[in-house]
Amino acid sequence: MVEIAPSVLSADFTRLGEQLKVVETAGASVIHVDVMDGHFVPNITIGPFIVQWIRSATRLPIDVHLMIEEPDRYIGDFAKAGADWISVHPEATRHLHRTISYIKHAGCRPGVVLNPATPLSAVEEVVADVHHVLLMSVNPGFGGQKFIPASLDKLKRLRALIRSKTSAARIEIDGGIGPDNVADVVAAGAEILVAGSAVFGAPDPAEAVRALGQAANAAAHV
Ligand code: DX5
Ligand code: ZN
Repeated sequence: MVEIAPSVLSADFTRLGEQLKVVETAGASVIHVDVMDGHFVPNITIGPFIVQWIRSATRLPIDVHLMIEEPDRYIGDFAKAGADWISVHPEATRHLHRTISYIKHAGCRPGVVLNPATPLSAVEEVVADVHHVLLMSVNPGFGGQKFIPASLDKLKRLRALIRSKTSAARIEIDGGIGPDNVADVVAAGAEILVAGSAVFGAPDPAEAVRALGQAANAAAHV
Protein backbone atom coordinates (compact mmCIF):
# COMPACT_ATOMS: atom_id res chain seq x y z
CA MET A 1 0.00 0.00 0.00
CA VAL A 2 1.50 3.32 -1.08
CA GLU A 3 0.89 6.04 1.50
CA ILE A 4 0.09 9.71 0.99
CA ALA A 5 1.76 12.15 3.39
CA PRO A 6 0.39 15.68 2.98
CA SER A 7 2.93 18.35 3.89
CA VAL A 8 1.46 21.04 6.13
CA LEU A 9 3.92 23.55 4.69
CA SER A 10 1.30 24.38 2.06
CA ALA A 11 -1.69 24.27 4.43
CA ASP A 12 -3.77 27.24 5.50
CA PHE A 13 -2.51 27.79 9.06
CA THR A 14 -5.54 29.87 10.02
CA ARG A 15 -7.53 26.61 9.87
CA LEU A 16 -4.90 23.94 10.27
CA GLY A 17 -6.99 21.65 12.49
CA GLU A 18 -9.78 21.56 9.93
CA GLN A 19 -7.36 20.90 7.06
CA LEU A 20 -5.76 18.03 8.98
CA LYS A 21 -9.17 16.42 9.51
CA VAL A 22 -9.99 16.79 5.81
CA VAL A 23 -6.87 14.98 4.63
CA GLU A 24 -7.15 12.35 7.35
CA THR A 25 -10.74 11.54 6.36
CA ALA A 26 -9.72 11.43 2.68
CA GLY A 27 -7.21 8.65 3.36
CA ALA A 28 -3.89 10.34 4.07
CA SER A 29 -1.95 8.11 6.43
CA VAL A 30 0.95 10.31 7.58
CA ILE A 31 1.30 14.06 8.23
CA HIS A 32 4.59 15.50 6.96
CA VAL A 33 6.00 18.48 8.87
CA ASP A 34 8.87 20.51 7.42
CA VAL A 35 11.10 22.06 10.06
CA MET A 36 13.51 24.71 8.70
CA ASP A 37 15.98 26.84 10.64
CA GLY A 38 17.15 29.50 8.17
CA HIS A 39 20.67 28.03 8.27
CA PHE A 40 20.56 24.55 6.79
CA VAL A 41 17.97 25.84 4.32
CA PRO A 42 17.12 29.44 3.41
CA ASN A 43 13.72 29.46 5.09
CA ILE A 44 12.28 29.33 8.62
CA THR A 45 9.14 27.37 9.42
CA ILE A 46 7.79 25.22 12.22
CA GLY A 47 9.09 24.42 15.72
CA PRO A 48 8.03 21.94 18.43
CA PHE A 49 5.31 24.30 19.63
CA ILE A 50 3.35 23.94 16.39
CA VAL A 51 3.99 20.19 16.30
CA GLN A 52 2.23 20.01 19.65
CA TRP A 53 -0.86 21.64 18.12
CA ILE A 54 -0.71 19.32 15.13
CA ARG A 55 -0.52 16.40 17.58
CA SER A 56 -3.71 17.53 19.26
CA ALA A 57 -5.50 17.81 15.90
CA THR A 58 -4.75 14.42 14.29
CA ARG A 59 -4.36 10.76 15.16
CA LEU A 60 -2.08 10.12 12.18
CA PRO A 61 1.65 9.59 12.63
CA ILE A 62 3.57 12.87 12.48
CA ASP A 63 6.59 12.71 10.17
CA VAL A 64 9.00 15.46 11.18
CA HIS A 65 11.53 16.34 8.46
CA LEU A 66 14.32 18.27 10.16
CA MET A 67 16.08 20.68 7.82
CA ILE A 68 18.15 22.15 10.63
CA GLU A 69 21.78 22.27 11.71
CA GLU A 70 22.72 20.22 14.78
CA PRO A 71 19.48 18.23 14.88
CA ASP A 72 20.62 16.38 18.04
CA ARG A 73 19.81 19.49 20.08
CA TYR A 74 16.12 19.37 19.19
CA ILE A 75 15.23 15.69 18.82
CA GLY A 76 13.98 15.46 22.42
CA ASP A 77 11.78 18.54 22.01
CA PHE A 78 10.14 17.26 18.84
CA ALA A 79 9.63 13.82 20.37
CA LYS A 80 7.97 15.40 23.41
CA ALA A 81 5.81 17.54 21.16
CA GLY A 82 4.39 14.38 19.57
CA ALA A 83 6.56 13.50 16.58
CA ASP A 84 6.38 9.82 15.56
CA TRP A 85 8.99 9.81 12.82
CA ILE A 86 12.04 12.11 12.72
CA SER A 87 14.37 12.38 9.75
CA VAL A 88 17.68 14.18 9.46
CA HIS A 89 20.05 15.17 6.67
CA PRO A 90 23.53 13.59 6.89
CA GLU A 91 25.13 16.99 6.15
CA ALA A 92 23.52 18.54 9.23
CA THR A 93 25.01 16.23 11.84
CA ARG A 94 28.58 15.23 12.58
CA HIS A 95 27.76 11.71 13.75
CA LEU A 96 24.81 10.38 11.80
CA HIS A 97 24.76 6.98 13.49
CA ARG A 98 24.62 8.63 16.92
CA THR A 99 21.83 10.95 15.81
CA ILE A 100 19.81 7.94 14.65
CA SER A 101 20.32 6.36 18.09
CA TYR A 102 19.07 9.55 19.76
CA ILE A 103 15.93 9.47 17.65
CA LYS A 104 15.30 5.84 18.65
CA HIS A 105 15.95 6.56 22.32
CA ALA A 106 13.49 9.43 22.14
CA GLY A 107 10.86 6.84 21.11
CA CYS A 108 10.61 7.86 17.44
CA ARG A 109 11.24 6.11 14.14
CA PRO A 110 14.40 7.41 12.51
CA GLY A 111 14.81 8.46 8.92
CA VAL A 112 17.63 9.86 6.80
CA VAL A 113 17.23 12.34 3.96
CA LEU A 114 19.07 12.61 0.66
CA ASN A 115 19.30 15.97 -1.08
CA PRO A 116 19.33 15.91 -4.89
CA ALA A 117 23.13 16.27 -4.96
CA THR A 118 23.82 13.93 -2.04
CA PRO A 119 25.02 10.49 -3.17
CA LEU A 120 23.39 7.32 -1.85
CA SER A 121 26.71 6.41 -0.25
CA ALA A 122 26.05 9.11 2.40
CA VAL A 123 23.46 6.82 4.00
CA GLU A 124 24.72 3.42 2.89
CA GLU A 125 26.13 2.46 6.30
CA VAL A 126 22.95 3.32 8.19
CA VAL A 127 20.30 2.10 5.78
CA ALA A 128 19.74 -1.00 7.93
CA ASP A 129 19.17 1.16 11.03
CA VAL A 130 16.43 3.45 9.76
CA HIS A 131 12.68 3.23 9.34
CA HIS A 132 12.67 5.35 6.18
CA VAL A 133 14.91 7.02 3.65
CA LEU A 134 13.50 10.30 2.39
CA LEU A 135 14.62 11.16 -1.10
CA MET A 136 14.41 14.85 -1.95
CA SER A 137 13.20 15.39 -5.50
CA VAL A 138 13.67 19.17 -5.15
CA ASN A 139 16.25 21.15 -3.21
CA PRO A 140 14.92 21.54 0.32
CA GLY A 141 13.60 24.85 1.58
CA PHE A 142 10.35 25.61 -0.18
CA GLY A 143 7.09 24.04 -1.28
CA GLY A 144 5.79 24.27 -4.81
CA GLN A 145 9.04 23.55 -6.68
CA LYS A 146 9.42 21.47 -9.82
CA PHE A 147 10.22 17.75 -9.58
CA ILE A 148 13.81 16.93 -10.63
CA PRO A 149 13.52 14.10 -13.21
CA ALA A 150 16.87 12.49 -12.27
CA SER A 151 15.18 11.50 -8.99
CA LEU A 152 13.55 8.55 -10.78
CA ASP A 153 16.84 6.84 -11.49
CA LYS A 154 18.03 7.64 -7.96
CA LEU A 155 14.88 6.04 -6.53
CA LYS A 156 15.65 2.83 -8.40
CA ARG A 157 19.23 2.83 -7.13
CA LEU A 158 18.01 3.50 -3.60
CA ARG A 159 15.60 0.58 -3.83
CA ALA A 160 18.48 -1.66 -4.94
CA LEU A 161 20.69 -0.40 -2.09
CA ILE A 162 17.99 -1.07 0.51
CA ARG A 163 17.46 -4.59 -0.86
CA SER A 164 21.17 -5.30 -0.94
CA LYS A 165 21.36 -4.46 2.78
CA THR A 166 18.26 -6.57 3.53
CA SER A 167 16.91 -3.45 5.18
CA ALA A 168 13.23 -2.89 5.97
CA ALA A 169 13.61 0.87 5.37
CA ARG A 170 10.74 2.41 3.47
CA ILE A 171 11.28 4.84 0.62
CA GLU A 172 9.65 8.25 0.94
CA ILE A 173 9.82 10.88 -1.78
CA ASP A 174 9.48 14.61 -1.20
CA GLY A 175 9.22 17.53 -3.60
CA GLY A 176 7.16 18.34 -6.65
CA ILE A 177 4.97 15.24 -6.33
CA GLY A 178 1.60 15.49 -8.07
CA PRO A 179 -0.77 13.73 -10.48
CA ASP A 180 1.73 13.92 -13.37
CA ASN A 181 4.52 11.94 -11.72
CA VAL A 182 2.84 9.73 -9.08
CA ALA A 183 2.84 6.64 -11.29
CA ASP A 184 6.49 7.11 -12.26
CA VAL A 185 7.78 7.55 -8.71
CA VAL A 186 5.82 4.54 -7.47
CA ALA A 187 7.09 2.40 -10.35
CA ALA A 188 10.63 3.49 -9.44
CA GLY A 189 10.19 2.41 -5.81
CA ALA A 190 8.56 5.19 -3.76
CA GLU A 191 6.26 3.88 -1.00
CA ILE A 192 5.37 7.08 0.86
CA LEU A 193 4.58 10.18 -1.18
CA VAL A 194 4.89 13.62 0.40
CA ALA A 195 2.68 16.18 -1.30
CA GLY A 196 2.30 19.79 -0.21
CA SER A 197 1.04 22.07 -2.94
CA ALA A 198 -0.60 19.18 -4.85
CA VAL A 199 -2.85 18.64 -1.81
CA PHE A 200 -3.32 21.95 -0.01
CA GLY A 201 -2.97 24.05 -3.16
CA ALA A 202 -5.73 22.05 -4.87
CA PRO A 203 -9.28 23.44 -4.91
CA ASP A 204 -10.43 20.31 -3.06
CA PRO A 205 -7.65 18.84 -0.85
CA ALA A 206 -9.73 15.76 0.02
CA GLU A 207 -10.23 14.92 -3.64
CA ALA A 208 -6.52 15.55 -4.28
CA VAL A 209 -5.54 13.03 -1.57
CA ARG A 210 -7.97 10.45 -2.94
CA ALA A 211 -6.79 10.92 -6.54
CA LEU A 212 -3.10 10.71 -5.58
CA GLY A 213 -3.76 7.58 -3.51
CA GLN A 214 -5.68 5.89 -6.31
CA ALA A 215 -3.08 6.73 -8.95
CA ALA A 216 -0.27 5.60 -6.65
CA ASN A 217 -1.85 2.29 -5.78
CA ALA A 218 -2.85 1.58 -9.37
CA ALA A 219 0.80 2.07 -10.35
CA ALA A 220 1.96 -0.15 -7.47
CA HIS A 221 -0.06 -3.09 -8.81
CA VAL A 222 1.14 -2.90 -12.42
C1 DX5 B 1 10.67 21.08 0.82
C2 DX5 B 1 9.90 20.21 1.76
C3 DX5 B 1 8.71 19.55 1.20
C4 DX5 B 1 7.62 20.46 0.68
C5 DX5 B 1 7.03 19.76 -0.50
O1 DX5 B 1 11.85 21.47 1.44
O2 DX5 B 1 10.74 19.20 2.29
O3 DX5 B 1 8.15 18.63 2.13
O4 DX5 B 1 6.60 20.73 1.60
O5 DX5 B 1 6.15 20.62 -1.15
P1 DX5 B 1 5.63 20.32 -2.61
O6 DX5 B 1 4.86 19.04 -2.54
O7 DX5 B 1 4.75 21.51 -2.89
O8 DX5 B 1 6.81 20.23 -3.51
ZN1 ZN C 1 9.75 17.65 3.60
